[in-house]
Amino acid sequence: MAWLNSPSGYGGLTKAFHWLTVFLFAFQLLSALIMLRLDEHGRVIGLGGSDWYNWHKTLGLVALLVALGRLWARRAGALPDWAPTLTSLDKRVVHRAEQALYVAMFLMPVSGFVFTMAAGYGVQFAGLWPLPNPIGQWEALGEAARRVHVGTAILLGVALAAHLAVVLRHVLLLRDGLLRRMLPGK
Ligand code: HEM
Ligand code: HEM
Repeated sequence: MAWLNSPSGYGGLTKAFHWLTVFLFAFQLLSALIMLRLDEHGRVIGLGGSDWYNWHKTLGLVALLVALGRLWARRAGALPDWAPTLTSLDKRVVHRAEQALYVAMFLMPVSGFVFTMAAGYGVQFAGLWPLPNPIGQWEALGEAARRVHVGTAILLGVALAAHLAVVLRHVLLLRDGLLRRMLPGK
């Protein structure tokens, strides 16, 4: 299997980044659900609210690095040809959903970081290293970034639903091997 994409299929880097992104986004959505609901004394699997916030911020920043690697890999190779079984409606949905997913992959972590810094909460990376605050305290910017974070989460939900609807229809109903295009191997 080649590392970069080619007209005949996705490369190893794209596949690895894709499934790493799935894991990171699943964690981000789950941790957001937990941290926004925990009170001062609440714990989930031994972690309190501030731990969940910290891991949400830390893995969110890791997701930004993965998105940069992913975009680089997409640009460095040639995009694979369309899967032969996609209808023209599928292609339109896939194209728009991928654009929105790429926007979310960058805007979610950047808005989260700007919100956290401008609102003065800061980031303790992996619970160990406090990151420098390049913005300083700036309440209005923090609130704007928080709204962008929440708004982009909605865009992400819609785009993911569209992405999965196309993939699941092909995998479960048409059984045409679409998922194999993103799995290890040829
Ligand atoms: C791929 C990256 C990320 C995803 C998918 C993500 C997802 C989410 C979601 C779904 C929420 C709940 C929004 C709501 O209130 O409805 C949330 C909240 C939050 N996120 Fe993220 N996030 C990401 C990265 C980050 C980063 C990098 C930071 C900070 C460095 C961050 C900080 C926060 C904070 C502080 C909240 C609570 C917002 C509030 O109090 O209203 N997030 N995130
Ligand atoms: C369980 C969840 C997921 C499944 C089963 C899945 C499956 C797939 C499949 C089969 C393809 C290849 C489609 C083709 O033949 O061209 C693909 C491509 C893609 N997926 Fe997903 N996906 C999932 C989650 C996600 C998530 C969470 C994101 C981003 C936040 C994402 C972003 C993309 C993008 C951008 C592409 C196009 C390839 C690229 O440029 O990287 N997917 N996905």
